[in-house]
Amino acid sequence: MKVKEQVLSILEENRGSFISGEEIAEALSVSRNAVWKSVNALKKEGHIINAITNKGYSLAETSSVFTAHSVYEQLSSELKERLNISVVPVVGSTNSELKALGEKGGLDGTVLIALEQTEGRGRLGRSFYSPKDTGLYMSILLRPEFSAEDSLYITVCAAVSAAEAIENTSKVKTGIKWVNDIYVDGKKTCGILTEAALDFESGGLNYAVLGIGINLTTREFPAELKDIAAAVSETDKDLRSFIAAGFLNIFFSYYNDLKSLSFLSEYRRRSILIDKEISFMRGNEVFEGKVIGIDDNVRLLTELKNGEIKAFSSGEVILVKGGLIK
Ligand code: BTN
Repeated sequence: MKVKEQVLSILEENRGSFISGEEIAEALSVSRNAVWKSVNALKKEGHIINAITNKGYSLAETSSVFTAHSVYEQLSSELKERLNISVVPVVGSTNSELKALGEKGGLDGTVLIALEQTEGRGRLGRSFYSPKDTGLYMSILLRPEFSAEDSLYITVCAAVSAAEAIENTSKVKTGIKWVNDIYVDGKKTCGILTEAALDFESGGLNYAVLGIGINLTTREFPAELKDIAAAVSETDKDLRSFIAAGFLNIFFSYYNDLKSLSFLSEYRRRSILIDKEISFMRGNEVFEGKVIGIDDNVRLLTELKNGEIKAFSSGEVILVKGGLIK
């Protein structure tokens, strides 16, 4: 953590009461001038910090900038120890940052949240629209001990966790569009991008980066997204810390016991494709049929018009009926 973030963390622990620059400097083994500079930088970011000579600094009760501390406060005690969360104002892509960290030996449980992404990435080489302060853009660096095949389940339990966290925090009902998009009222509000690197010696994963992007209060979408993307909340209330913490608590409870596949029944229950007529595109082939289930390998079981049952494991789904376009 940078000095500025450490200063903020101390101010947050003492929110509403004053703590002297000297005490902060001592706690962090930095100069009082470094503390003063950090406080000024934090004020520029919008934190409300009162300063009184001889008393020190105090973070106002009303100061509501989204911070790592506000996420930590709501985590289970296991995760408070296990995760290392940073919130940064802007990055290209939180996934790209953590992939670079993963290559350099970064630790399991590193979580990076950005208030804005300038090059947010989606699946299949698409971009992910990530405007300032209106969404949760979060990535988690994992060093799983299971096989590369099982990494598919990271995405699946992340989808269930996102759907549950959004519902627990807002009034909306969520559904999951296979494999990993979260829909509210027929529009996408959340996407998940898991990127993994193999460890060729062990045949397992070296690391995986799980990235989740949720449109929370985004009102204006670019023309190409207007009809397919939506926000979770009707209000401008900042839901980010609740949803981030809610997601992390739920996700790790599933992830700790990934092999039991305990999240699959919830995944199926929330699927918006089961019983729907779909067209399925795989490469240049198009199949038409009705989705009849999702198997334990998360394949989409589809009964084709000729009665044949196909199990699809990748590709893009387009619904014929039901109003969902992509
Ligand atoms: C998709 O819908 O295709 C997946 C979108 C994933 C977006 C998130 S936002 C945080 C993380 N950083 C990225 O660049 N992408 C993921």
